[in-house]
Order: sequence, then C-alpha cells, then structure tokens
Amino acid sequence: MEIGETKEKVAIVTGASRGIGAAIAKKLAEAKAWVVLVARDRARLQLVAASIQKNGGKAWCLPADVIEEKQVREMVQSVVKRFGRIDILVNNAGVGYAAAIPETTVQDWDLMMNTNARGAFLCSREVLKVMKDKKIAGSIINIASLAGKKGYRHQAAYCASKFALVGFTKVLAIEGQPLGIRVHLVCPGGVNTEFIKRIRPDIPPETLIQPEEVAQAVMFLLQQPTRIATDEILIRRFSSEII
Ligand SMILES: NC(=O)c1ccc[n+]([C@@H]2O[C@H](COP(=O)([O-])OP(=O)(O)OC[C@H]3O[C@@H](n4cnc5c(N)ncnc54)[C@H](OP(=O)(O)O)[C@@H]3O)[C@@H](O)[C@H]2O)c1
Repeated sequence: MEIGETKEKVAIVTGASRGIGAAIAKKLAEAKAWVVLVARDRARLQLVAASIQKNGGKAWCLPADVIEEKQVREMVQSVVKRFGRIDILVNNAGVGYAAAIPETTVQDWDLMMNTNARGAFLCSREVLKVMKDKKIAGSIINIASLAGKKGYRHQAAYCASKFALVGFTKVLAIEGQPLGIRVHLVCPGGVNTEFIKRIRPDIPPETLIQPEEVAQAVMFLLQQPTRIATDEILIRRFSSEII
C-alpha cells in the first residue's frame, strides 16, 4: 500500500520510540515512506529503526524533546537539510498521568499541557512553515484522544491538554486548507501500550485497541482521494461508553 503518487514521501512521527508512534512509523515505512523517528530516548528509537530496516523500510532517528522550541526547530531543519521536503507530520508524542484534581500537581499539569498541546503546536508550526514555503500539499495528523472529546474522572490535566490539542487542530485545518495542507485528528480510546497501564490499569487488556489499529486509521487518512477529507476519526473500545 503506497501513499499518494510519489513513492518516497518524507514523514516525521513524534513519540516514535514505542507504542502507537512506533506502530505508525512501521506502517508508514511499509508504505514506502522515509520515516523520521522523533522522541527523547535514542536507544529505543534505534530499536524501532532497526526493526523497520530489517523489513526493508527506511528510517532515520532524530532524538528531540517536543517541548523544547530550539530542539523542534533543529529537528525540522535537519529533515529539510537531508531530504529537502516534509510530506507528513504525525504529532503523536504524549504523556498522561491520572490524579484527582486536589492531588494534581502543577508539575504534572505543565508536563501534560506542554507535551500534548505545546509539543504538537511547535512541531506543526515548524513543519507548516516548510510546507508553505516549498508549496507542499502535505498532511498533518494529530493523535489526540477520546479524552479530548469527553471528561474522564482523575484525568483533568490530560483531558485539558487533549481538548487544547483538538482546538489547535481545528484552527490548523482551517489555516492549512488554502495551502492545500490536510489536517486530521485521530482520537483513540484505551490502546494497549505502556501508557494505558499507567493511566487506566482498570481496563481489561483484552478489550484494548491495538497500536496497529490506530496506525491503520492513520494510513486510511493518508490514502484517501484528495477530493475528499475525513477530518476526525474516533476509535473506541466497543465495550466503552459511546461518546
Ligand atoms: N495508549 C492509550 O490508551 C492512548 C489513548 C488515546 C491517545 N493516546 C495518545 O497516543 C499518543 C501515544 O501514546 P502511547 O500510548 O503510544 O504512549 P507511550 O507508549 O507512553 O509512548 C509515548 C511516546 O511519546 C514520546 N514522548 C513523550 N514525551 C515526549 C517529549 N517531550 N518529546 C518527544 N517525545 C516524547 C515517548 O518517547 P520518549 O519517552 O523516548 O521521549 C514515546 O515514544 C499520546 O499522545 C497519547 O496521549 C494514547
């Protein structure tokens, strides 16, 4: 399965060192994209890159912290220097911790807001500038959450950060449209990664969404005819409450 007409698209995936981001990176590489893997943990990024390369895919590790403006700018500049273009950005890097509001610390609030909302803003802004300057009709996909659509007990900071990301994505889509840049939102419920074990250990593991299923949704968005647009995909565990 290839994405669009050009065989070699250049895709950046943040939070690609494990979980959903690693699954998305692998699917993109299977679709013949050059995948730039971004996260803080270099060793884990290299493991993902090795597994992609073993299957004949192309991956490049660029460790960066999406919270840091300078690191994001340098990461995007490095991609442009090497490839001369960016076709796809997947803003997936994220953190989530559960706590009742009286127990929510300012540190955790700031970490979730900064990673989940500011990180996606910084990466989108830098990539948008490149796509605009180079007249690339690219795609930006933001991995939010059902926690960006609905409140969940003990997830105030996480929900606030994901609602912020959903709002940002709406405006990014509006500003991207006249430039031919397509912006999509993917909102999964509980996905079987290290993350869910921390924030929702109560969910029966057999009911969880698999990371590859979120990656499939991303590929569906990238493979749609350019005449139409699917702005949002919500994926929930079938046994969970309908939003
Ligand atoms: N799992 C779920 O149930 C679920 C449901 C809905 C939405 N989501 C969202 O899906 C995304 C991926 O979640 P996941 O379940 O795959 O979580 P995960 O397994 O904990 O992976 C999170 C990824 O984000 C990276 N990351 C975190 N902070 C970063 C930073 N400051 N800079 C760069 N990278 C950073 C991590 O890499 P490093 O630690 O190496 O930096 C890691 O690669 C998140 O945005 C999450 O909110 C998850």
